[in-house]
Amino acid sequence: MIQKYTFGAPFETDAVVALIPAASGTPAFGNFSADHGFSFAYDLSPDHKVYGLGEANRGIDKRGYVYVSCCSDDPIHTEDKHSLYGAHNFIIVSGGSDAPGRPSSDSFGLFFDYPGTMTFDIGYSHRDLLTVSCDKPDLYLYMITGEDPYDIVRQFRRIIGKSYIPPKFAFGYGQSRWGYTVPDDFRKVADQHREHDIPLDMIYMDIEYMDHYKDFTVDPQNFPDFPAFVNEMKQRDIRLIPIIDAGVKVEPGYQIYEEGVEKGYFCKREDGTEFEACVWPGMTHFPDFLNHQARKWFGDQYKFLLDAGIEGFWNDMNEPAIFFSAEGEAEIRAWMEKILQGELSFHSFDFSDRSKTLANRPEDYCRFYHDVNGKRVRHDQVHNLYGANMSRAAGEAFVRLVPDKRILMFSRASYIGMHRYSGIWTGDNMSWWSHILLNLKMLPSLNMCGFLYIGADLGGFGCDATEDLMLRWLALGVFTPLMRNHSAAGTREQEFYQFDHPEDFRHVIQVRYRLIPYLYSEYLKAAQNDDLMFKPLAFVYSQDRIACGIEDQLILGNETMIAPIYTQNAIGRPVYLPEEMMLVKFLPDGTLYQEIMPAGHHFIEVALNEVPLFIRKDRKIPLVKAANRVSALDMETLIYIGYPDALYELVED
Ligand code: NOJ
Repeated sequence: MIQKYTFGAPFETDAVVALIPAASGTPAFGNFSADHGFSFAYDLSPDHKVYGLGEANRGIDKRGYVYVSCCSDDPIHTEDKHSLYGAHNFIIVSGGSDAPGRPSSDSFGLFFDYPGTMTFDIGYSHRDLLTVSCDKPDLYLYMITGEDPYDIVRQFRRIIGKSYIPPKFAFGYGQSRWGYTVPDDFRKVADQHREHDIPLDMIYMDIEYMDHYKDFTVDPQNFPDFPAFVNEMKQRDIRLIPIIDAGVKVEPGYQIYEEGVEKGYFCKREDGTEFEACVWPGMTHFPDFLNHQARKWFGDQYKFLLDAGIEGFWNDMNEPAIFFSAEGEAEIRAWMEKILQGELSFHSFDFSDRSKTLANRPEDYCRFYHDVNGKRVRHDQVHNLYGANMSRAAGEAFVRLVPDKRILMFSRASYIGMHRYSGIWTGDNMSWWSHILLNLKMLPSLNMCGFLYIGADLGGFGCDATEDLMLRWLALGVFTPLMRNHSAAGTREQEFYQFDHPEDFRHVIQVRYRLIPYLYSEYLKAAQNDDLMFKPLAFVYSQDRIACGIEDQLILGNETMIAPIYTQNAIGRPVYLPEEMMLVKFLPDGTLYQEIMPAGHHFIEVALNEVPLFIRKDRKIPLVKAANRVSALDMETLIYIGYPDALYELVED
């Protein structure tokens, strides 16, 4: 059952698409206050678990920390961080039913539809207290009760609308690096994959492809005939996937800038002038994605690249990221001027602090406004909708511009509702072993919030990757819908050909292609049925206390369990099987190791070039012969592995 409560005058975020009548009376769980800001409080019993929050730090069970929904361009995802790029305000409070004096089932879900900053203190300030709070008492609250957390999630998914389905090629492997600039950089990637017989469907174009980082342009020197280059790659059955940034360069004569100013489609300061912030192109204006006309206008710009043959995009810097604002720059200039004039003394600490805190400052997010149906809304109050509406702009445009085609798209910043238009990549992680585990843990949480087309920068974006880390991470990436190797300029190059053993990469990436019929089928089922592709073990084996506490194994689809290796120099890992399962190891010679293992604790050995997968009892999955492109997969070679008498429903489109 879903009940909708209205506090104050909420902003219409469009996150929920179902019509839910207003509930009467007071919510069944927790205490609410809307006197000074808004707050919700609920006493947790020792057994309660709290799931959800989508793209957030730490565990699948969110209990024990404080998370702040505030889309943030912060590339250092250490354990202490409270905010990442997405803002997904859905939680499920689960269980606690065996505590004395509690109702037999006190599981419930809460969606706080509020686009400003919101704090989820889940046993951080007080171990047994959950509080959710925000500054303004204006929001919709959806309270969902159901049989168990899984049921609650599915009810939630039904009210927020169907998840985005990408084109099938998007299930192939993609190579990316910030730094590919000239056509030969892209050709080299394609050539190397061909020479080593390694599958590849996409090469990503980071900001260097543009003319001075201007959206919807290409560098005329490097790409004098861009459609021909896109076509050259397409002849090789490889898609180029360009990046689009949120900020539009301020440059007289640049058509998009001129048009945006003329039509009033950029975010404005209080005095009506366009807000200016420095990002990659230098000073930029931010398109007002919350203004439906501006959204249409910006979406229409994708036509330039669609017409050139492009079939996929990644939307970046859309929190929006700000290196510094015009105001921030003026302040620091004035301060330095005073030092130069001898009016202030120079303190190196002060200097370092001031220069560091120029980026993404809360005060800058209070300096510009959106025009929402003629009403002026200050950005900080709707901050978490900005990136989501950039992708919505594109998604709505694709329906108009290429109605018969599916376009690949994923975004960095997001809010619930964007899952109908786009996927997510989880931004600037690091080549750290701990980030393999973080990648794994985010998968079910993101699914709970509707995001199915998801993935992390495999191998890590920042820092230097090693061959073993790369292989172990790819062995997890084999299962994530978005399988992309991406890294930052200045880090060690991490394409497979930078390492000693291309054959190991070939094998791991081929396993992905062998599994595509299964992965795509399970993806489609999850999208069509408002279901999860990745589930915590607790959602499937809710009566098994050990399984409920396991966070480094996930149920994938309805048939399999994944248990990737995420520690350095490991020869394998411990796994817990809540029921009998078949261990399948994809061996480097293309054969399979299969062993039925009884329920219980085991240690499995997995070499660096092997990919482990468990098939649940009495289930089976399809497997095809690997090919070098998704389009070349031959369904005639389909076989099934697992328990032979099982049935499997293969969904294709
Ligand atoms: C930030 C993005 O997160 C990253 O993936 C990209 O490489 C850089 N921007 C440069 O465009």
